[in-house]
Amino acid sequence: NTVAQIEIFEVGPRDGLQNEPRDIPVRDKIALVDVLSKSGLRRIECASFVSPKWVPQMAGSGEVLMGLTRSPKVRYCALIPNLRGLEAAIAAGADEVAVFASASEGFSQANINASIAQSLDRYRDVVAAANQAGLRVRGYVSCVVHCAFDGPTDPAQVAAVTGQLLAMGCCEISLGDTTGAGTPDTITDMLAHTLNEAPAEVLAGHYHDTGGRALSNIDASVEMGVRVFDASVGGLGGCPYAPGASGNVATEAVVRHLHAQGHETGLDLAVIDKAAELARMMQGDFDV
Ligand code: HMG
Ligand code: MG
Repeated sequence: NTVAQIEIFEVGPRDGLQNEPRDIPVRDKIALVDVLSKSGLRRIECASFVSPKWVPQMAGSGEVLMGLTRSPKVRYCALIPNLRGLEAAIAAGADEVAVFASASEGFSQANINASIAQSLDRYRDVVAAANQAGLRVRGYVSCVVHCAFDGPTDPAQVAAVTGQLLAMGCCEISLGDTTGAGTPDTITDMLAHTLNEAPAEVLAGHYHDTGGRALSNIDASVEMGVRVFDASVGGLGGCPYAPGASGNVATEAVVRHLHAQGHETGLDLAVIDKAAELARMMQGDFDV
């Protein structure tokens, strides 16, 4: 069994809160990010500059980025769908941005109203402009094993989209099991194909826990050399345009699981637990 240094990329304040049915005040979002900033996390995705008509929950993203208490140890990241989103992210002080593509046509249309090819064409300019502005760009690939609209995904398609995102200047590719349908076998098969296009060092696993297998899928990915995993504190979230997608795997569960196997994350679990409690209060599981 390999023992590894693993980075957790926190996505709760974005992937989690974008899907919350209740209207969460900006000050609560800021409070959550501020607690997370003290946990040892190196990157926190806390903003999304998309159309507020599509995702109203992320409308206050600029205020969140500008209102949080910056830790010099943390890079604050933002999701962007186009050049307009990039400009807004830069204006609000994002340290890193992310574009989001799909390995399945059905989800691409539902999520960003564009085909895979159209989205990649658009991202070429966005990534170039971001890199020119000195920002690293992460590329997401959704539906890496299964799509709610198209069914099973061809792993060769995941490899192809990954290769194109890297070629246009993305520095890291986050592989999204958007619907949580993945199993250790299908995740391993998908990674085996993707590793033909990209070294393990630039890959991240972004696994939703809908099927309850996210931890097993992380284990399988660690065996394949992946060392970055996205997680959502308190298990917040889902994706509004992927029917049935529940939250990302919970950060506190991933950290406990990895530590129990001897892996290192550099995270302070007591602080993560405090943030998880805050996240659960924001979801309305408890009275505040
Ligand atoms: P569209 O309707 O095709 O394009 O949307 P549009 O250019 O006509 O824009 C529609 C409206 O949005 C216009 O406003 C634009 O001005 C405005 P109107 O003229 O109707 O008043 N608009 C913007 N407003 C603010 N910021 C912007 C922006 N761009 C346009 N940057 C578009 C295309 C991509 C904009 C839209 O489909 C969209 O915003 N989609 C985002 C969907 C989304 O955020 N989904 C969740 C994130 S992805 C995810 O969660 C998966 C992930 O976690 C990985 C995984 O789990 O698989 C990353
Ligand atoms: Mg997601």
